[in-house]
Amino acid sequence: MSGFDLTKLLAERGDERYDLHAKYLNHQLPRMLHTIGFDRVYERAEGAYFWDDAGQDHLDMLAGFGVMGLGRHHPVIRQALHDVLDAGLADLTRFDCPPLPGLLAEKLLRYAPHLDRVFFGNSGTEAVETALKFARYATGKPRVLYCTHAFHGLTTGSLSVNGEAGFRDGFAPLLPDTAIELGDLAALERELKRGDVAAFVVEPIQGKGVHPAPPGFLRAAQDLLHKHKALLIADEVQTGLGRTGDFFAYQHEPGVEPDLVCVAKALSGGYVPVGATLGKESVFRKVYSSMDRVLVHSASFGANAQAMAAGLAVLTVMEDEGIVAGVRSTGELLRARLTELIPEYELLHDVRGRGLMIGIEFGRPKSLKLRSRWTMLQAARKGLFAQMVVVPLLQKHRILTQVSGDHLEVIKLIPPLIIGEPEVERFVAAFTAVMDDAHTGGGLMWDFGRTLVKQAVAHR
Ligand SMILES: Cc1ncc(COP(=O)(O)O)c(C=O)c1O
Repeated sequence: MSGFDLTKLLAERGDERYDLHAKYLNHQLPRMLHTIGFDRVYERAEGAYFWDDAGQDHLDMLAGFGVMGLGRHHPVIRQALHDVLDAGLADLTRFDCPPLPGLLAEKLLRYAPHLDRVFFGNSGTEAVETALKFARYATGKPRVLYCTHAFHGLTTGSLSVNGEAGFRDGFAPLLPDTAIELGDLAALERELKRGDVAAFVVEPIQGKGVHPAPPGFLRAAQDLLHKHKALLIADEVQTGLGRTGDFFAYQHEPGVEPDLVCVAKALSGGYVPVGATLGKESVFRKVYSSMDRVLVHSASFGANAQAMAAGLAVLTVMEDEGIVAGVRSTGELLRARLTELIPEYELLHDVRGRGLMIGIEFGRPKSLKLRSRWTMLQAARKGLFAQMVVVPLLQKHRILTQVSGDHLEVIKLIPPLIIGEPEVERFVAAFTAVMDDAHTGGGLMWDFGRTLVKQAVAHR
């Protein structure tokens, strides 16, 4: 009899979760969660909701940083995973060609008909690393251009194209890459003229701050890149798989056909780590140019059967349930309901984004009373007001959201793509209540702001 019993283990030791994390893992996570009162115990989940140990439901507007595209425990994906385990497949022999990766590649490429081949890895950052390597090799050039404030993952290659000092500092030397502003075609051309650029990597909607590329930018950038024999890499790790109301966000405008497209997160429905780099035949042919080079880029877990089966199930569910069209209409409703609030609240400055990737930006209020409070927060640390909104959304209204990056007064909503009108109404009602509190000087909220200020000052 096996000594391993998962149910028993969790029953016996589940209560130690925060202590175990503090002792053996990144100790700052439990510390942060205790500080902002997010140190809850969640026991089960379904769809866009999870339930805590008191049986209370919580609305998920974060989707596990975007991986839970179809919500938690979608029955079709669960069944696919049960089936793949029950099939007892000879997976990862590494010296055969199993059918599932080929079938998933075939299905995925239907959404990007100008592309021909797929490399399967295990995460978003790996999908980006693959694209960077392939672009460098295929062009024979060393430098990659990226955007200020960009986020493409945290392994060293992806870090070289990260647009935030906070992530990069202390990890030098990185690769010889160069940042330009999102939308700055003149800077792109200036850098391309130096002749050493392999590619430009870009998020069609930047995750940090939720900034869409300006209209026409991606197409014009693509033309410039191709003129200078460099490649366009679209990082669709967050924006892909329907998130923005198109299957890929680059498809929002006609004529954009990136040479490489990075996918991960929602591709396996949040169950199994997965990443995919889609690319043109010409690029793949160069990288895998001879039999000797068959393993020149590979990953031990890449294309494993669980990830592939989950991916196939996800794409099928997306088609069967009309997910992309649903995202478009629910996203429009949510954005419209939030935009209506802008004239009501002087601290609320902007609502932007596409589909179900929405940024809510706060800014300097006009009235004297609020302005002094706002200034106090800004002096301590930018981004504290947005944090002050995220906290009561969870604590009072049981809705999980996140600030959209450090030092930003922006909340980002990336809920599961399956949400509908009830979730929109619940969020808008809660957000309105939090805004009312903030604007009527709600003691508790600003008291919490002062606590955050003290912590910010203490950590300088
Ligand atoms: C646009 C983008 N690229 C890459 C990544 C990295 O993905 P992963 O965390 O799976 O490595 C992320 C993660 O948030 C992302 O948003």
